[in-house]
Amino acid sequence: MSDTSNIDIKSLDEEQALSELKRLALEISRHDQLYYQNDDPEISDADYDALRKRNLAIEEKFPKLVLETSPSKRVGAAPLEGFEKAAHAVPMLSLGNAFDRDDVNDFVNRVRRFLSLDDEALLSIVAEPKIDGLSISLTYSKGELVRAATRGDGRVGEDVTHNILTINEIPKRIKGDGLPDLFDIRGEVYMAHDDFKALNAAQEKEGQKVFANPRNAAAGSLRQLDSSITEKRTLKFFAYSLGDAQVLGVKHHSDVLTQFEQWGFPVNPLTKICCSVDELIERYEHIALNRSELGYDIDGVVYKVDDLGLQERLGFVSRAPRWAIAHKFEAEKAVTQLEAIEIQVGRTGALTPVAKLVPVTVGGVVVSNASLHNEDEIARKDVRVGDFVVVQRAGDVIPQIVEVVLDKRLESSELYSLPDVCPACGSPAERAIDPKTTRQDVVRRCTGGFICPAQAQERLKHFVSRNAFDIEGFGEKQVELFHGLEWVKTPADIFSLEAKDEDRLTSLKNMDGWGEKSVSKLWDAINERRTIDLDRFIFALGIRHVGATTARDLARHYGEADKWLQAMISAGDEGSAAFEELQNIDGIGGVVASSLTHYFAEKRNLEQVYALLEVVTAEPVEFEEVASSVTGQTVVFTGKLELMSRAEAKAQAERLGAKVAGSVSAKTNILVAGPGAGSKLKKAEELGVKVLTEQEWLDLVG
Ligand code: IVH
Repeated sequence: MSDTSNIDIKSLDEEQALSELKRLALEISRHDQLYYQNDDPEISDADYDALRKRNLAIEEKFPKLVLETSPSKRVGAAPLEGFEKAAHAVPMLSLGNAFDRDDVNDFVNRVRRFLSLDDEALLSIVAEPKIDGLSISLTYSKGELVRAATRGDGRVGEDVTHNILTINEIPKRIKGDGLPDLFDIRGEVYMAHDDFKALNAAQEKEGQKVFANPRNAAAGSLRQLDSSITEKRTLKFFAYSLGDAQVLGVKHHSDVLTQFEQWGFPVNPLTKICCSVDELIERYEHIALNRSELGYDIDGVVYKVDDLGLQERLGFVSRAPRWAIAHKFEAEKAVTQLEAIEIQVGRTGALTPVAKLVPVTVGGVVVSNASLHNEDEIARKDVRVGDFVVVQRAGDVIPQIVEVVLDKRLESSELYSLPDVCPACGSPAERAIDPKTTRQDVVRRCTGGFICPAQAQERLKHFVSRNAFDIEGFGEKQVELFHGLEWVKTPADIFSLEAKDEDRLTSLKNMDGWGEKSVSKLWDAINERRTIDLDRFIFALGIRHVGATTARDLARHYGEADKWLQAMISAGDEGSAAFEELQNIDGIGGVVASSLTHYFAEKRNLEQVYALLEVVTAEPVEFEEVASSVTGQTVVFTGKLELMSRAEAKAQAERLGAKVAGSVSAKTNILVAGPGAGSKLKKAEELGVKVLTEQEWLDLVG
């Protein structure tokens, strides 16, 4: 075999190309072996990438010569069936938002209050650009990149390792003293403007779909089953945090970033440590000023408390850390015409007006729908069909109508009012009156309940949504199809679809857009969900006020599906101990408790839940709880706390696996009483509940 390694690709003839492809296949495979199995690479990442790029370029020029053993087929191997699920050892959270200086001030004050810091105490906060891409968690074991996962629902993402391996900027292996055995590096994968333009130009030339913006292009490129496609797209990366911030043994977030740089990860150069709100705002303005020159999209600035010890104390609320916030850039705006107002009926019967717009590009995305919220909002802005309106879009938020351009209003325009009957079922649509305040609810609701087909369809959409049953291949479109055909009227019907399909005149596999393989995949996906975590099960029912976090609180408290269901039925009597217990669960309260009991008081809801439990098993969720001296105990705090704020005390107790309740009952195990404690202390003493001072409590929890 003659040496073809130095021949320019343009000058290769077919015979030389074949010989070069064979040589590259062997060479790359040898380096893979050295790198992945022997821990002993001979060449740099850049040289290795160059080999793979040469291989791809030759394959593109001589597509007929692509070998069965080609590396382009091997990494990411033969196209995968789908993405594997990847559970995150530490959840990937989101961030709360700030929109102006006041919000930033509030954030810093909240942090100070929570930590009981006085005005003189220094508080360093790191400001860094918020990259508009996709968050990724990279797992390194003994210094080697072993897994890359998308954020997903924060707890479970998708395994995209095969695609991440094609990104040059991400080190595949890191070396250094004191490297932890196993840890996650988190950051943002994005596409730079130039690469985005080049990709769209190529897509257009090949008659392929063009992407609306760099973020979509990055997401589309990363979600390829065939990694040779990802390899052709240029993706980039900025590292911004560790999964478990404590793992390096350093004291500050800024030290973590320095370590990332030393390991060869890109860290955003506009990052700065600030010591006051003024400095944060100054950095925000500096970044905003440079935004258009960066060459990639950012949508705000993230502020993070620098001290990792303080971060740990601050902890999280729901899905966002208390120690960080995203200060978003002002939304982008455009003017367009409102063609119509469409009424959507939600799963709880809420009528939502949606603006149908003449399509307009706002911040790189074509917008044709915008939210109008409710009729009070329409009246306040006096929005009328035919008006020219200012539309704004910020990040992932649904576009909104800011105001009407009154100069352009047509003379013939008429005041708009929401219909007082449901457009889907014709039942009266009413605004409830709150008996306590006698005020009208802002939302008009269809009173059709179970007879309204739109509500039923929306309940089904919620049932299969991401944080609920999340059935692969069974999304909103499939709900519309099966509900329209009347094959699926209630959630339980989904699980008998397969059995009934045989008896139908036209079984699914003979319908347009379906085939034997896709149908059998759908049945598999449905069957896979016959066992589900209790929190997802509860959330899937779509009970008003019961979101994913509340569903988790309920699953944590009651443990088993039967116990939970029985408790919900017993709580129907609002004077019962079961209702008292429900209302006392931290994070639940009166509104949620009543919403739950109303739901179960409706016979048809209960029938649907029983029917579902016939075909589905809702399993207890394993909550990772630190076993501590107070795990499982119910604690109440009362009086003034002097060593930490009330919020910190509560968060700490919960972290240690205790339940924090608002009032003392026979179920209370510990009352922590500070100076000024009154009726709760008295009640605890009457009930013989253990009473501790704040210091005694801290000694107990260590
Ligand atoms: S920190 C627990 N830093 O913003 C804090 N996030 O809304 C986790 N993002 O999902 C996030 N740039 O995809 C952080 N410098 C940055 C970021 C950043 C972009 C994204 C990230 C996350 C989302 C949160």
